[in-house]
Amino acid sequence: MTRIVFKAQQTTDPASLTTGCLIAPLFIGKKLSDVAQQLDKLTAGAISSAMKLGDFYAKTGQTLLLPGAGKAKRILLIGCGDAKKFDKDASRKFINSIYRAVSATQAKDATVLAASLNIADTDASWLLEAIARTITASLYRYTRTLSKPKKAPAIAKLVVSHGPGITTRAAQKALNTGSATGAGMNTAKELANLPANICTPRYLAEQARSLAKGNPKLTTQILDEKKMADLGMGALLSVSAGSDEPARLIVMNYKGGKANQQPYVLVGKGVTFDTGGISLKPGAKMDEMKYDMGGAAGVFGTMDAISRMGLPINVVAIVGAVENMPSGGATKPGDVVTSMSGQTIEILNTDAEGRLVLCDALTYAERFKPKAVIDLATLTGACVVALGAHATAVYSNKEELAEQLLDAGITSHDRAWHMPLWDDYQNQLDTNFADVSNLGGPGGGSITAACFLSRFAKKYNWAHLDIAGTAWNSAPKGATGRPVALLTQYLSDRVGK
Ligand code: BES
Ligand code: MN
Ligand code: ZN
Repeated sequence: MTRIVFKAQQTTDPASLTTGCLIAPLFIGKKLSDVAQQLDKLTAGAISSAMKLGDFYAKTGQTLLLPGAGKAKRILLIGCGDAKKFDKDASRKFINSIYRAVSATQAKDATVLAASLNIADTDASWLLEAIARTITASLYRYTRTLSKPKKAPAIAKLVVSHGPGITTRAAQKALNTGSATGAGMNTAKELANLPANICTPRYLAEQARSLAKGNPKLTTQILDEKKMADLGMGALLSVSAGSDEPARLIVMNYKGGKANQQPYVLVGKGVTFDTGGISLKPGAKMDEMKYDMGGAAGVFGTMDAISRMGLPINVVAIVGAVENMPSGGATKPGDVVTSMSGQTIEILNTDAEGRLVLCDALTYAERFKPKAVIDLATLTGACVVALGAHATAVYSNKEELAEQLLDAGITSHDRAWHMPLWDDYQNQLDTNFADVSNLGGPGGGSITAACFLSRFAKKYNWAHLDIAGTAWNSAPKGATGRPVALLTQYLSDRVGK
């Protein structure tokens, strides 16, 4: 992966900046801003004449690429609309325009004049972080199994000049945070995009080891099927029973905080391929079930991001990595298994396997005496029906935790929506043959899946993120890196708390 470097810099006269591309935001108005006037002078009136002709009047998303002037090889103006309406949404459009325009040129470096941008309800670091995160994530390309990958954009360095509202040191920190988050998102995307014949449970375990390599704050522990059997993980192991690929429980321990600080625990569903098992899925779009380890990918990406940031907190990651296949050894509908918690489960549908993997991982999480446990999983098709591709579903047994996650989603624009976890739904999981069934009936499928998990998360503050709709796109097909930004923001917000 080519990585782009970000550098914060105090504003100076734009004419003095040596750069491959000088990028300036421009607002609608009769009078040019101070920066625009400076650039207009530098380009011998090119801006005012383009505005006079009506070709460019700073409408949101409009761009104007001018030939070089002064020490800049190119000058790029980006329309930002009405200055009074320049909010978070408008600034996201601005950032996307930077990405599109810069990746369309051959410029190897560029300088964004961001000093004049003031966004309501944010501090100055928010924009810088968003720039670095979005541009880094946008530059991701999948190449691993292509014999002739397309050429990547040339851009390798982005300088961002900031205003007096922030120190250069704080600005650089915001850029680093955004860049780390974007890199974490790309880690998640890469793992999720890999085909299931490469990305197996054992492959994920190797990736955890290599993430920890050379990082003294991060250690890995891999549990094989024998170890899991000794722990009594009958639910998780029932899923891998029909596969030739052995399951793994992957544990990563990040110690950025004090030794005695309680950790946050992230739990990821790592079904590297979900055929449905004996309750076999229909054929259409079954290839997309390689993304059924999207929760695990999100956990890896978040661990990567916080490691890069050196976040001063403790975080444990637990990934249940399994392949769900139908073979002669596979679990059958009606089979009853015993989970690590001791609760027995009647498996009425082998395609409701994610909750079987997660419930044992959630019980395993108890040993870390967590401050909070957050699991993430591409858990239900019903979640996609309910919320589509834009919002991750949040469930929690603690209101405050749900609120914190929703807030983090808004700040990072990786948004989530609070769903009910009412007791009224619990009896949909009743059965005559075990403590609980893994099937909740036709109504509220994402909710009853969460209800199932809640029975294994009683000993701590817990939240569940159903990312079935948000972890990947179907057209064009590709992983999104969600919810790495949300979780990284949530964990950053916990520092010092
Ligand atoms: N991995 C799927 C959920 C899924 C399906 C995510 C489609 C995204 C797109 C999960 O293991 C599953 O198969 N769930 C079943 C549960 C049902 C049998 C209760 C589902 O949603 O159909
Ligand atoms: Mn399934
Ligand atoms: Zn699944």
